[in-house]
Amino acid sequence: MHTTLSERDAAVAPRQPAARPAAPRRSPIPAEGEDGLFRQSWYPLCLSSEVAAGQVLGCDFLDGRVVVFRGDDGVAHVTSAYCPHLGADLSVGRVVGKRLQCAFHHWEYDASGACVQTGVGDPPPPAACLFVFPSQERWGIVWAFNGETPLFELPDLGHREDELEIWSYKYPRPFHSDPWVFAANTPDMQHLKAVHRVKFEHDDPHDAVIWDRWGLKFNIKAMHQGGVPIDWDVGLRGTGFFWRAGSYGEFWCAAITGFGLPRPGMHQVFGAAMVLKGEHSKERLAQMRKITERTIGEDADILDTIHYRQGTLTAADRTLARYLTMVREFPRAHPSAPFIR
Ligand code: FES
Ligand SMILES: [Fe+2]
Repeated sequence: MHTTLSERDAAVAPRQPAARPAAPRRSPIPAEGEDGLFRQSWYPLCLSSEVAAGQVLGCDFLDGRVVVFRGDDGVAHVTSAYCPHLGADLSVGRVVGKRLQCAFHHWEYDASGACVQTGVGDPPPPAACLFVFPSQERWGIVWAFNGETPLFELPDLGHREDELEIWSYKYPRPFHSDPWVFAANTPDMQHLKAVHRVKFEHDDPHDAVIWDRWGLKFNIKAMHQGGVPIDWDVGLRGTGFFWRAGSYGEFWCAAITGFGLPRPGMHQVFGAAMVLKGEHSKERLAQMRKITERTIGEDADILDTIHYRQGTLTAADRTLARYLTMVREFPRAHPSAPFIR
């Protein structure tokens, strides 16, 4: 019995899938550093404890380098790192009073970024100045805003810092994704259940989310791991941090998690957990620390390996989808570029 030519061709022809899925959409969300621009947000740079009075610390930030220095008045400043004279990295200089002195030829810069004195006494050139970032210290963390003027503030967590017992931390390793990828965890209600095993006492609160120009917040009432009831306001503003505040079982607690941007495609997690001072505050803070470490540990491998895109979303993703649209359209700028690169 002979097979015909066409039967043989059919036997060796590559099999076609019944229906080829559409190719995934390319990410419509610009990456940090794309077109040389970065989202205008507050980003954590270092822990306050890393820069004592009279010290200077160098940090990678955006696509360049900055320094945090603290004068003898205790105030921390964030400026571009490279000396306008010949480019020495000021992180190897020293703090003199309230000024930062370059190690190479001893030019000195004040908190406004102006060179106020050269080493040999020549008048400082008017163009010899550093870029000064808007900065602030909150909850034991030094924050810098990518821009000339902040577009929004860090959140008010409901209590003054002197009323709180605070544990501030820097996660031991950076993650290989942009800061907004971690920030997007807060509006990602599916992941709160799947990754962190939070059991909501209500339907997903998509319709109760309060949006403003720079972010969102909403309330969740749920059972946390171990059957602990929580009633938390959670929120974020921009792409560099999110927070939560409310009750954990019997007591009040709050946490802020910030995402530093040491270079495009990476983020470094900083954060603080806090409870009210008073009886039991030490044990409660220790409990918050454990929960914080566990929670970041649950996210860590995902955020370190993800190739994030706004892909095939469902109705359960609608708050996340709206946040991703916000991220895509968020103002981007890089005014410090000529100074920090
Ligand atoms: S390079 Fe800084 S003073 Fe010369
Ligand atoms: Fe998470």
